[in-house]
Amino acid sequence: MDCSLCLLTLVSLLSQATDPSRWEVQFPSCGGLHQSPINIVTSKVHVDSSLPPFDFIGHTNPINITVTNKGHSAHFALPQSVRLTGGALPGHYRANQFHFHWGGSGRPGSEHTIDGERFPMELHIVHIKEPYSSLAEAEHDMAGIALLAFLFEETKDDHPHLNNVIAALGRVQNNGSSTVMSNFHLSDIIPSAKDLHSYYRYVGSMTTPGCEQAVAWTVFQRTLLISSRQLDAIFRQCRFWTGQPMTDIFRPTQPLDGRVVYRSRAGAAQAIAVHLWFGVFLVVLGTTGLIH
Ligand SMILES: *[C@@H]1O[C@H](CO)[C@@H](O)[C@H](O)[C@H]1NC(C)=O
Ligand SMILES: *[C@@H]1O[C@H](CO)[C@@H](O)[C@H](O)[C@H]1NC(C)=O
Repeated sequence: MDCSLCLLTLVSLLSQATDPSRWEVQFPSCGGLHQSPINIVTSKVHVDSSLPPFDFIGHTNPINITVTNKGHSAHFALPQSVRLTGGALPGHYRANQFHFHWGGSGRPGSEHTIDGERFPMELHIVHIKEPYSSLAEAEHDMAGIALLAFLFEETKDDHPHLNNVIAALGRVQNNGSSTVMSNFHLSDIIPSAKDLHSYYRYVGSMTTPGCEQAVAWTVFQRTLLISSRQLDAIFRQCRFWTGQPMTDIFRPTQPLDGRVVYRSRAGAAQAIAVHLWFGVFLVVLGTTGLIH
């Protein structure tokens, strides 16, 4: 066999796997109409007062997490004791894994964008509705999967609890390698449910193949913090299954195609509170003669 052909085939297989615009060749769902991530246009979101807060179960318990380099990202497997209810989700959901999406040197890498702004990094916590036990089973239920997304903002100071995560990523540099992060608490990296009343909700898909269109997405308005030094350490460590540095691991935003993005009322209440507060401020300034 002519081996320039083998090389061509290999190159085309590689680009098919790494180029998101070609995913649908192998995974038809990736070309569907309800894909994720999306750009959230805040002036167009619909406020939905029936979106209540979440109940987190097991988030403060110490857990041992197996971290595995999956070739396209690193997964942090969560035990079934970590669960979720509330948030207008139809039932109880078991946590399955969390993972991050990041960019590269000086390049932001969140998947969701807000009014066109891409954030430095994004955390996804994947939950599967009970009684399903895999994405494949949950895929046939419109809300079979619940994904919680947190956007990161860059700060000067290190996030104290992310160093465990960074060290674990350093131990899974190559495809297939894994390690255990022991005595981790999910509450070390995400705020408690009472501080997460404000969020966006829409119906979409997984953001990697097979792009299962069965996801109730929650993107929290509250951001998490990470230092520039930590960001740098995160994207420098892992490698793709191709051996290339694992950078810019985010899918481009997908068309909304008529979908509506909802915002919980807490988000709106906060905005109203700011306006009220600002109104009072103007009245005070007015009466003290500072403005005319
Ligand atoms: C985590 O692993 C340690 C041993 O490395 C063990 O002592 C501990 O009980 C485990 N914790 C849980 C919650 O399984
Ligand atoms: C990546 O690792 C997985 C699990 O170890 C393995 O099944 C897969 O074949 C690997 N991919 C490549 C391209 O080496």
